[in-house]
Amino acid sequence: MHIDLGGKSALVTGAARGIGRAIAESLAGAGANVLLADVDGDALDETRSAIEHAGGIAATFAGDLTRTDASQQCIETLLRRYGSIDIVVNNAGYTWDSVIQKTTDEQFQSMLDIHVIAPFRLLRAASEFIRSQTKREREEGEIVTRKVVNITSISGTDGNAGQAGYASGKAAVIGLTKTLAKEWGRYNVTVNAVGFGLIDTRLIQPMDNPETEITIGHRHVHVGMQAATREAALSHIPLGRLGTPQDAANAVFFFCSPLSDYITGEVLICGGGVHF
Ligand SMILES: NC(=O)c1ccc[n+]([C@@H]2O[C@H](COP(=O)([O-])OP(=O)(O)OC[C@H]3O[C@@H](n4cnc5c(N)ncnc54)[C@H](O)[C@@H]3O)[C@@H](O)[C@H]2O)c1
Repeated sequence: MHIDLGGKSALVTGAARGIGRAIAESLAGAGANVLLADVDGDALDETRSAIEHAGGIAATFAGDLTRTDASQQCIETLLRRYGSIDIVVNNAGYTWDSVIQKTTDEQFQSMLDIHVIAPFRLLRAASEFIRSQTKREREEGEIVTRKVVNITSISGTDGNAGQAGYASGKAAVIGLTKTLAKEWGRYNVTVNAVGFGLIDTRLIQPMDNPETEITIGHRHVHVGMQAATREAALSHIPLGRLGTPQDAANAVFFFCSPLSDYITGEVLICGGGVHF
């Protein structure tokens, strides 16, 4: 089945690499105009070039999405570039793990900032356009379905030792998802969440891999997993393998496509059957 998203205007956060890049490539491959947002400007440019090289349409917004003014600027860029907001995927994120007694206030707050406060601000910034545009479309007898997909984790749905902050942020974004599904049903916006298990990106590389030392804004953070924990987790995945970024993007694409037009407020787990 061919899904045509031609002319749709999409925002994907955390689109420079990993799952976000695969989501952006899938949306652009289906014809959407995609704004790629990420804190990592160099990787963002690489992703944009790859999309354009494949014949897609993409633009970039480089910046730390936890800055108070970033969400508004990002939405303004999307509207200036493409004139609409049809699909929003809140995917940007990272881990900053430790057991609770070693978790600082800054560390815990940073997990809420990126996983729930940035999505909240982006969607609040989008709401004025969505409400007024829907009104205009109704007056003209047109019905347009818009899409929001927020990214969560099995850490958010089930909890995970060592991830009090991350799990709290990922659980909170489910509350945001279900609430907006109720507020925005009247505007024909479906609002769903996709929760990943173990997807093979830098976030879950063994911690001795230098790729796991990352910089987000002014912070240097160590993501990744202990090698033994990663091996143990792998043995618990019923499908017997890690997910690929494309596996993850496929689940998100479903919620961005007309196939999900009568589904809202749901959480879909894409994890090969795994639960913590
Ligand atoms: N990989 C997994 O196993 C897994 C599991 C569950 C959930 N997730 C979630 O999936 C999403 C994508 O993760 P990934 O595995 O592709 O990781 P990744 O590190 O490969 O990509 C995440 C991207 O988000 C960007 N980002 C992070 N903080 C940002 C900020 N403050 N402002 C702007 N951009 C920012 C990073 O620069 C990076 O390009 C995240 O929300 C993550 O929590 C991943």
